Amino acid sequence: MLITNIKGLVGLHPKEKLVLRGSEMSNLPVLENAWLLIENDLIKDFGEMDSIPPSISCLPSTDAVDKYVFPSWCDSHSHIVFAASREEEFVMKIQGKSYEEIASAGGGILNSATKLREATEDDLFESALVRLNRMILNGTGALEIKSGYGLSVESEIKMLKVIRRLKENFPIPIKATFLAAHTYPIEYKGNHQGYIDLIIDEMLPQIAKENLADYIDVFCEKGFFSVEETDQILKAGAHYGLKPKVHANQLSISGAVEIAVKNNAVSVDHLEETNAETIQSLLNSNTIVTLLPSCSFYLGIPFGNAKGFMEANLPVALASDYNPGSTPSGNMNFVVSLGCIKLKMLPEQAINAATLNGAAALELSGDFGSIAIGKKANLFITKPMPSIAYLPYSFGETQIETVILNGEIYNG
Ligand code: NIG
Ligand code: FE
Repeated sequence: MLITNIKGLVGLHPKEKLVLRGSEMSNLPVLENAWLLIENDLIKDFGEMDSIPPSISCLPSTDAVDKYVFPSWCDSHSHIVFAASREEEFVMKIQGKSYEEIASAGGGILNSATKLREATEDDLFESALVRLNRMILNGTGALEIKSGYGLSVESEIKMLKVIRRLKENFPIPIKATFLAAHTYPIEYKGNHQGYIDLIIDEMLPQIAKENLADYIDVFCEKGFFSVEETDQILKAGAHYGLKPKVHANQLSISGAVEIAVKNNAVSVDHLEETNAETIQSLLNSNTIVTLLPSCSFYLGIPFGNAKGFMEANLPVALASDYNPGSTPSGNMNFVVSLGCIKLKMLPEQAINAATLNGAAALELSGDFGSIAIGKKANLFITKPMPSIAYLPYSFGETQIETVILNGEIYNG
């Protein structure tokens, strides 16, 4: 496939550039008036229209006058396998109840767990595929999906098997994260160590045996899992080769970031609450800070301190957190808009955060997240746009016209 007369080819980071830290995030290389050649599933070559080689210009082509070509969004944090929406909690929130109040009244994650336990693997697969298809049409070309609404051996495995089926049935890379430590199930309300033992002694060995997860996650938060419990679970995960990606500092500063970094977390996610110690603990680590501004938007909690993290020379990624409780949307275009509007990221920074750094948080940045020769051709062509900044500026709309995955047009 040849695309010609592209107004701007966006995100031309060299293939060996695997992550962008701090001030590097302001640099979004763009080639204007460009052509792009895709061969099989890979980016084969690109250049300026003025100097297109005759051997290429004679190939059949798609014209992209006034349009931009972006690398696909890489969404490194989602919970898209769930049995039912929770709009009744939406109304409770409007009436003034907090996320914690709803959770302690039997809503929240436990509400989703009850419903998920009743759902079949087929039901869960059918509903998740509708969400995933919509996300892909909104430009997502690599994704992480978590378990964490099962909270029993059988139901956590059921969720991970649904994620595996999604991997097998969709043309994008999907990483699976094991999040049984999302909350304590009712039957272990008075026996926290009992549930941790269940995770460590029964769930982890089975998951490892069937190769059902890439990462391990813990919701480390007051009222959920303590720092000590988190440490215990992450260490057990490491024993089975699962690297951590941790829900940290969403509702309070808890020491979650520090313990995640000590356990070599690939990413710490949320961080709506931050202080100088949080930032300090991340310096000299390879851990990526993944911010989820749609969650802040929906829950009305603070927005992450993207500028503070970038000033500290840390790598920041943006992800959706799509889930039925705190973020009922997987639209990465809106995430990027919020990155600009609420996190005060420049469009270049927000786009880098949602592409190359998102890919890094998925450990996929060698093949995804930028336009470079030899990388996978997972891209989107925009509608005609006056500038790159128009994409996040026009929030709530999609500027995506054509999605290309593995070098082929994806129509859903
Ligand atoms: O990332 N905070 C923990 N987990 C999800 C919300 C889960 C839910 O409310 O169902 C999150 O926001
Ligand atoms: Fe989450």
